[in-house]
Amino acid sequence: MRGVLVTFEGIEGSGKSTQLLRLSERLRRRGVDHLVTKEPGGTALGAEIRRLLLTRHASGEIWAPEAELLLFYADRAQHLKAVIRPALDAGQVVLVDRFEDSTRAYQGASGIPEDALNHLRDLVLQRLRPHLTVLLDLEPEQGLTRAGTRNEALPGFQETRFDEAAVDFHRRVRQRFLQIAKDEPQRVSIVPAKEDPAVVEAGVWRAVSPLLRSSGFEVEKKSRASKTSL
Ligand code: TMP
Repeated sequence: MRGVLVTFEGIEGSGKSTQLLRLSERLRRRGVDHLVTKEPGGTALGAEIRRLLLTRHASGEIWAPEAELLLFYADRAQHLKAVIRPALDAGQVVLVDRFEDSTRAYQGASGIPEDALNHLRDLVLQRLRPHLTVLLDLEPEQGLTRAGTRNEALPGFQETRFDEAAVDFHRRVRQRFLQIAKDEPQRVSIVPAKEDPAVVEAGVWRAVSPLLRSSGFEVEKKSRASKTSL
């Protein structure tokens, strides 16, 4: 059986990492063979790229938008080759914290044109697309407050986190994510991320479980009775 690729997207502070851990725990309890990984930084070399992208350089120099775009894609190419494609070939459920939609949303909001994004996607992903994308949707003001000043080297974090330019940038990022969801409703499932993590977790499960079931994974809860029966 071929595996299943599920990506998690959303602005900073939307709770992707928390929700990925919760979903992973749920799958572990059900005995579903899966892998959790992330971009940027899902490989040893990618971790170096992540550091280059997300740590502000002592000189104060920042990446040109095109350089930043290519670094995210260098990370993705390596990640696909070393981690994602082998796991899919092995029939695993692959859960990724950020993927191509992040590039479309963030680098798109930084001014990279659509045709450049399409070109790199075709080069690096070829025909691979996520089977499902969970978009954790949140107001930027809330997300930025939750996220604090992580990722301070990226656009929108160049001033203080309450800076209007940062909020405005993340508003545009959010709109781009929502537009992707509107354009591809069969792939992208929007889960409101404002609620309590347990409520969001239930929303994520409602989005993910039908795909896993239809792909042949055993996702029903193992009943206590069957576990304890002699
Ligand atoms: P995170 O792993 O803490 O979510 O942070 C990754 C940061 O990198 C976040 O600010 C979003 C940004 N990013 C892009 O701008 N483009 C991309 O393609 C990816 C994967 C992430």
